[in-house]
Formats: sequence, structure tokens, C-alpha cells
Amino acid sequence: MLLSITKTSLLLAVACSSFAVAEEIITSDSYFYGDSPPVYPSPRGSGAGDWASAYVKAKAFVAKLSDDEKVNLTAGVTSTTACSGTIQGIPRLGFPGLCLNDAGNGLRGTNYVNSWASGVHVGATWNRDLTKKRGEYMGNEFRTKGVHVMLGPSVGPLGRVAEGGRNWEAFSVDPYLTGALIYETIEGVQSQGVATSIKHFIANEQETDRHPGTNDEGQYAEAVSSNIDDKTMHELYLWPFQDAVHAGTPSIMCSYNRVNNSYACQNSKLLNGLLKTELGFQGYVVSDWGAQHSGIASANAGLDLVMPSSDFWGHNLTNAITNGTMEASRLNDMVTRIIASWYYLGQESGFPGLGSGMPINVSQPHQAVVATRPAAKSTLLQAAVEGHVLVKNIRNTLPLKSPRLLSVFGYDAYAPSKLQLSQGFGFLEIKSPEAYMNGTQYTGGGSGGNSPAYIDAPIDALQRQAYEDGTTLQWDFSSQDPAVDYTSDACLVFVNAYATEGFDRQGLSDPYSDALITNVANKCKSTIVVIHNAGIRLVDKWIDHSNITAVIYAHLPGQDTGRAVVDILYGRSNPSGRLPYTVAKKESDYGGLLQPTVGGNDKFKLFPQSDFSEGVYIDYRAFDKAGIEPLYAFGFGLSYTTFDYSNLKVSKHNSRYSAYPPKASIIPGGNPRLFDSLVTIKATIKNSGRVEGQEVPQLYVSIPHGPKRQLRGFDKVSIKPGKSATVSFTLTRRDFSTWDANAQDWLLQKGQYNIYVGRNSRDLPLSTVLTI
Ligand code: NOJ
Repeated sequence: MLLSITKTSLLLAVACSSFAVAEEIITSDSYFYGDSPPVYPSPRGSGAGDWASAYVKAKAFVAKLSDDEKVNLTAGVTSTTACSGTIQGIPRLGFPGLCLNDAGNGLRGTNYVNSWASGVHVGATWNRDLTKKRGEYMGNEFRTKGVHVMLGPSVGPLGRVAEGGRNWEAFSVDPYLTGALIYETIEGVQSQGVATSIKHFIANEQETDRHPGTNDEGQYAEAVSSNIDDKTMHELYLWPFQDAVHAGTPSIMCSYNRVNNSYACQNSKLLNGLLKTELGFQGYVVSDWGAQHSGIASANAGLDLVMPSSDFWGHNLTNAITNGTMEASRLNDMVTRIIASWYYLGQESGFPGLGSGMPINVSQPHQAVVATRPAAKSTLLQAAVEGHVLVKNIRNTLPLKSPRLLSVFGYDAYAPSKLQLSQGFGFLEIKSPEAYMNGTQYTGGGSGGNSPAYIDAPIDALQRQAYEDGTTLQWDFSSQDPAVDYTSDACLVFVNAYATEGFDRQGLSDPYSDALITNVANKCKSTIVVIHNAGIRLVDKWIDHSNITAVIYAHLPGQDTGRAVVDILYGRSNPSGRLPYTVAKKESDYGGLLQPTVGGNDKFKLFPQSDFSEGVYIDYRAFDKAGIEPLYAFGFGLSYTTFDYSNLKVSKHNSRYSAYPPKASIIPGGNPRLFDSLVTIKATIKNSGRVEGQEVPQLYVSIPHGPKRQLRGFDKVSIKPGKSATVSFTLTRRDFSTWDANAQDWLLQKGQYNIYVGRNSRDLPLSTVLTI
């Protein structure tokens, strides 16, 4: 019998019974009342920070609207363009409507655009300047096509679950690195007058059960609930969103999942509380596509715009105002936030027509051509190059020096059929083996993918190089156990690890590719493995093979995949990518964070629960805590040169100690005093090798009562052989603080903070102690 029961009655039942009883199935969400505290009313946008003039204009605009016009602004409509979402215009007031389109790695669903390096690839560059430039060029493509809002970049999933299907869309599993790169991306994209919409808010850490629906037993089950405590929320998952709001994003996309048992798009604690009160967010919250699950409840909880359309709102909003279930001021605030964002980006003048380069029929002749503009080329390529991470290079294998005979293997070496690419890879449910076997994987699957103007595959670039060097090439892309000419100077094996929206991965390696690599290595004395990996890829089956002399994590470089990898292989570019996640020796080292939560146990099968009981201990924080030695640590990557570290200097700024940040008016991003700088730390890096290269000095802090170390600074510097550079890290109050859930504020503890500077999270030659 199915019973609807409360927590209290369940606890009593357990307490009163001395023998085991079958667990009762929870059938009503009233069981979870209190898990996510109510925060009402929804705060009104105030024009804080640099939003004042946008709000003055928006309020004047909204004052002229009829109720119908207001309602129309709160939900998408079917459009004559291919925009992922469209708000209709109000011609009498000169408002053309808004086109919202995917995604953070390039414009999706249209032609004549570039495919840029994906999020994880950019994370691996650890390069702020390059990230900003990529944002500028990408933003310009959206603008030229008449797209007002880029649906991205993604900072959630952060990457809690190693097999997460969408981890590749975001930069890194570390909130500090992700926060720094989202900040630069927003600045870059928005410099072109295009808005970013940062997604998915929040804790959308797995694809499994992201939607409600019928479970395996034919019963209706809600979406998974990510259950997070307040401290973990602030220190990990909210952190990059805070940077995004601080950078001025005007749009945040709420996610499909539930958080603490309340849907993210109707969770008043998240939207009214964290986002609009604590972070002072002035823009609007847009639902992920189809993520609205209630009517007035979602409006009162802080949702402002529904995409692609709303079954719940429309005239129900004005009816609710009439019958008193919603305040008129809430509807005014919803539309003011949307229109203020349009003014904030200056989109009211000079912006191309709505979706003018986004025809539904891609063969229409009038499309705006934005691909491969000469100015963008070097940034496209550089972003592709710098996300490659070299993790093994023995016996001077790389860089290659005009080999006489080079043999090339693997399904990932050639260009995929262009016909498959009208939407990037789409949503391919690739289960076993877990690889995309039909060509090089330049992007992941789903709404984060796109279709480039061209694809330069590895073999294409190798052919050009062979022409220059007089090298003979041999290749076989289809055999799993190819014949290998034993006189080959080197053998290159190209494989990939696929991931897509909609599904989590089935493992962190696949038997087909592992066998292919081993078979080649058994016959070729110098085997170089290149993996286009949309997430963590383990190499335990073959990494110690004595003939495997070099390994590159090539991630998802975008359309210049071949050109970029060949620049690295031949030393025209010195590898400077560093891992934005930890590579374990074996899958079990990720423990409970290897796989998504699947379904629920019997009791919770209609309300799947994913408890984030590990707190802030994910990825390298978890490995450090458990004392597990990774194969390749977070932040690791080799170069063709070597760097020495010396001369660590710490200077405290003259700021008076206070446990909590002094009170101040909230700006977008929160209390501005959180961003006060407290300490500057300097170190000298010397290039002790023979070639020029870029180093990524990383700074980690151990905050009392927190993880062993946490990333709190990084830089990227180019240094000539024999020369040195001084790097300088400025750390803020926020960087040293922990979230105090009782005080509901960031606490700067008195005590000793170990500071480390070095090459990666496990190779930190410089250290000192800072007393606060
Ligand atoms: C659903 C995805 O989760 C989101 O990332 C995307 O922007 C929308 N669909 C629109 O395509």
C-alpha cells in the first residue's frame, strides 16, 4: 500500500518499533516541507551598481505598457527564426523583441559560424586574456546574427560527478578557476552588446533524472533533488555564479533539477534569497526550456521569464493579480528586469534585426556570414592550442622532428561527415563503447555543440605537415588491431571520450579504444596517444606500456582541431594547458562521486534524492582529504621546457581585521567589501630549459577548518629560456573566508593560513604561513 506520511510520523514509527518494518514510499512532497526555506516577497530590481540608468529607462518604458503587453514579455513565442527562444516585440515602443540562442561554445543551429574551443578546453588554457578575447569574437558572431542573448556559458554542472554528461560545457571542477574564466567571458561577450545567460542555476550536477517523468516501474517520479547544505552551496556551487553576477550578467537560467526538494525554477530560497537578495542580481531569471512546473508559485519565487513558452502564465498572471494571489508589483518587476537588461547592454540602438541571421531554413540566401573573419583566426587557433594538456613525454618523443615515416590510427583522426553536423553532434546516446567513432570530436553533444564552417581534422593537418617535411604517412582509421610498419618513427593514435547533454557517461574509459591503443603500442616503439576527451578520461589500462611515449589530453578544440594539435606535436606551440580536473589512477578513486545518483531507493523512488553529503570535498579536495594519490593532479601539465620557482613574498595590505565584511550597500555580486584585497603574494619563475614556454603558476591556500588546499590564484606567463618573470597574486577577503551558516555571512577566521605556490595542486615548491 502506498502511504502519504510526514517526516515526524516516520521518525516516530522508527523510534517506536524494535523490529525492522518495510520502508514506506513517500508519495507527497509535503514530506519535504522545510528542506528549502521560503523567502518572500521577491526583491525588486533597484538599479544597484552600474544598472541605475538602465532602470530609469526601463521603468519609463514599463509605465507605458498595457497588462497584455506585460504578460507577453514574460514568456517566449513561436518565431519565424531559428532562435532557441524568442520574446515578441512591442513595435509601438520600438522594442524589437529578444532572440535567445545557444550556446557558450559558439552559435548553434545555424550556418556560417565558428566552432570555438569548448568550456573544458578553455578551462584547460588557464588563460584569462585569451578567454576574454574568445568571448569578444564569439559575442560578435551572436550580434551579427541578431541574437541578443547567448544561452551560456555554463558554470553548472561544476563537475561534482566524474561521469557527468555536461561537465565539458563548463570550465572546471574548481569554483575559483571557473569564476575567474566566467568573469572574463562575460566581459568579452558583453563588450559586443550581447547578453550572457549563465546556466544552470543551480546544482544541475547530473543528467540522469534531470526531468520528471515515468520511472522504470511506470510511476511518475519527480526530477532528482540535489540536497546541499548552505556552506557547500556558498563555497562551491554558488561561487562562480557570484562572479558572473559581479561581472554584470543580465540573465541567469534556472535549472531542471530540484534543489533541497523544490524545483530550481520555483525555489524562493535560491531565486529570491541567494540570487536577488544576497547577490543583488538586477537582471532576470529565465527558465531552462520546459523547466517551469508551477504558475503563480514560480512567479512569486522569483522566476521572471519562461522559455520556450509558458503553459502556466499568460492571462493567469493578471487573473492572479486581480484575485490577490500575486502582487502587481511582481509582474512589473519581472518585465522591468527584462527591459532593463536590454537597455543595460545598449541593445536599443544599432542592433541587427531580431534573428536576422538565423533563418529556419538554413539554405536561405540572406544569412549573415560571420565565420573565419581574419581578425578572429588567431584567437580561434590559440584557444584551440592552449587547451591541450601534455601528460606524458618520455625519450624526447615530442616535439616531432621531420619524421621519415609516421603512422596514424584511430577513428578520431578524420573529419566527421558534415551532414551529421547541422546541430553539432546532437544528442547521441553513445553508451558502449563510450566514444564517438565517426570522426574527430571537436565539441560535445547537445545544446552546447554547434556546426563549424569547416573542420580541420588531425589527418588534414598532418598531411600538410608531411608535405612540408617530406614525411611519408601511413594510416588506417578503421581497424582496432591495425598492421603497423615497424620502421615507423612514431605512431599516432587518435581516440576520444564522448559526452552529451541528456545522458551521463557510462564510464571514464572504453574498452574499444583501450584495446586499439594497446594493439598499436605492442607493434610500434614510439606510440603517441591523443585523446579528444569531453571530460575525465582514465588511462590506467596502458599508461605504463613502455612503447607509449607521449600522451595528450586534447579536449574539445573546436574547428581548428587538426591545426592546433599539429602545432603542439611539432613544437610550433609549446604545450601550456593544465588539467582543470583530477585524473585518478582508477575509477573507484572517485568514490561516491564517480557516478550520478540513479533513481531513488524504494522509499524515495518517486522523489529521487542526491545528497551532496561530501560537502565541499569534490575532485582534488576529496583526493587530498582521503590521501589518495592521483595519476595526474588537478592543475598538472607538461611543457617542452622546465620552470623553477623561488622568492615567495607575502605583503599584507593595511586593512583592519573584522570577522565579517563591513556592512555596505549590496551591488551585483553581493557585499562589495568581500572583494577588498587583503594580501599580495609574489613569486619568481625561471625558465630553466632550452625553449620559450608559458607557465601557469598556481596559488593554493589552506583555510583553517577547510580543505587541505584550495585554488585562490593563477597566472599564465610566457618566459624565454634562461629568463625569469615575477608573478603577482592579489587575494581578497572572499578568497580567505568561509561561509558561516549561523551568521549568514562570510567569516574571516583569525588563525594561520598556509600559502602554497607551484606547478599544480600536488607540486608546490614554495610555501609560507600567513597569520590573520
Ligand atoms: C536545454 C539546455 O539544458 C539548455 O542548456 C539550453 O540552453 C536550452 N535547452 C535551450 O536549447
